[in-house]
Amino acid sequence: MSTAREHFSSRIGFILAAAGSAVGIGNMVGFPVAATKNGGGAFLLIYALFVVFICLPIMLAEMGLGRKTQSDPHGAYTAIAGRKSPWRFAGWLAVLTPFMIGVFYMVITVWILGYLVQTLFGNLTVIADPAYFGVFINHGSVFAYLLMVAAIVYMVLVSGVRDGIERAARLMMPALFVMLLALVVFVLTLDNAMAGVQFFLIPDFSKIDGGVVSGALSQAFFSLSLGMGILITYGSYLRQKDNLVGASKMVLVTDTAVAFTAGLMVLPAIFAINPNTNPAELSESSVAMIFTFLPQIFLALSATIGYAGASVVAVIFFLLVFVAAITSLVSIIEVPTATIVRKYSISRQKALGVLALTMGVLTLIATASFGMVNFFTDFVSYGGSSHSFFDLIYDVFYDTVLPLNGLLICLFVVWHWKKTNFHAALNEGAVKYQGGFLQKYISFSLTTFIPVILAIVFINTVLGKFF
Ligand code: PHE
Repeated sequence: MSTAREHFSSRIGFILAAAGSAVGIGNMVGFPVAATKNGGGAFLLIYALFVVFICLPIMLAEMGLGRKTQSDPHGAYTAIAGRKSPWRFAGWLAVLTPFMIGVFYMVITVWILGYLVQTLFGNLTVIADPAYFGVFINHGSVFAYLLMVAAIVYMVLVSGVRDGIERAARLMMPALFVMLLALVVFVLTLDNAMAGVQFFLIPDFSKIDGGVVSGALSQAFFSLSLGMGILITYGSYLRQKDNLVGASKMVLVTDTAVAFTAGLMVLPAIFAINPNTNPAELSESSVAMIFTFLPQIFLALSATIGYAGASVVAVIFFLLVFVAAITSLVSIIEVPTATIVRKYSISRQKALGVLALTMGVLTLIATASFGMVNFFTDFVSYGGSSHSFFDLIYDVFYDTVLPLNGLLICLFVVWHWKKTNFHAALNEGAVKYQGGFLQKYISFSLTTFIPVILAIVFINTVLGKFF
């Protein structure tokens, strides 16, 4: 199909869509808990430094590459390096990554929908039983929820960039902000809420070690949807006249502000119920927090606001996380969609059909790898223990390939595309970029310490996980 490439209708449409990708499950629970366990304000400070000094240059590299080439990751690498260049493999990797992570993210989104439906039906007591999660994920109803999530994502994506992605973001993101603020305001009025705020904000530098620092970087990387080809693809839907540099700053600020605000919702709720909670005992995993820990907190709220009131709070919370997850899922699946449409000249509808089939099968396998089918539960063995198919996707793509993709982008921009071309591409539509401080900083950082840090994170993860 040689129809003109679709673009977001405005800069704000782009910002909302990219922020929709960035704001996800990681912001709502992962970030607040990581901060509380790892030194509160000290963690927040390190996180903020990483966001500004490491993530912003990479984000601009991805978006700049996408807008310049007007293509998906594979198309972007080959448009600049040539179709036969080895860089095409970096392009394929940046398409395979969201394809696989889409499977993983889909599974979690399906569970969130399941819990949302349960709370809507007044079954808060059911989900507050910590044993329920294990039962739920192996129950046949997950397949029905899977179909529903797939249908929602399909409907958004099939309508294209403006009528699908942008319209969904314009609708869902403001709703998300409102729900988040409503919960924050409510939670902060509870007794003992301030104990949670204190753990979240008061810096404790004694908790900071190498692991915390690298954890903060991974969290920032993942939260901003970097290394996933998403910002290349979304960047390709941005018009040349729009200020890309300004837009990425907005995305960065929005994502960080939402993560920060979520901390003012989750932690006060936990400490209001049990002021003696030991932060060290909070689970590192967002999955455990969302599906076993927080439902108990919601149920305990019944003592103060009654069962109906507690159920309303739980419904708003799960709806909030669901909306955040859907806009992220849409962005993840847009990458392979755009690639297939361009490469094989087929309609979005057909491309989505192909993805529904292939990703559908993998998602079923991932869903079945929690005990339904033993073969997928004990799928592979590495790092001294056996892992499920789901774990494998997580460990390989989430933890390992993301920093690798980031590293490849840096190397590509600096050594192949060349910095002058890159800066010229960013400068289009931007006021005061060329020759300014930001440009100098980006040049310097992308050539020096950013690739070094990403290489270290990548090697460390490979050694730590697989050997
Ligand atoms: N950034 C999202 C979050 O914070 C997750 C995500 C990762 C979304 C990768 C898209 C791609 O949860």
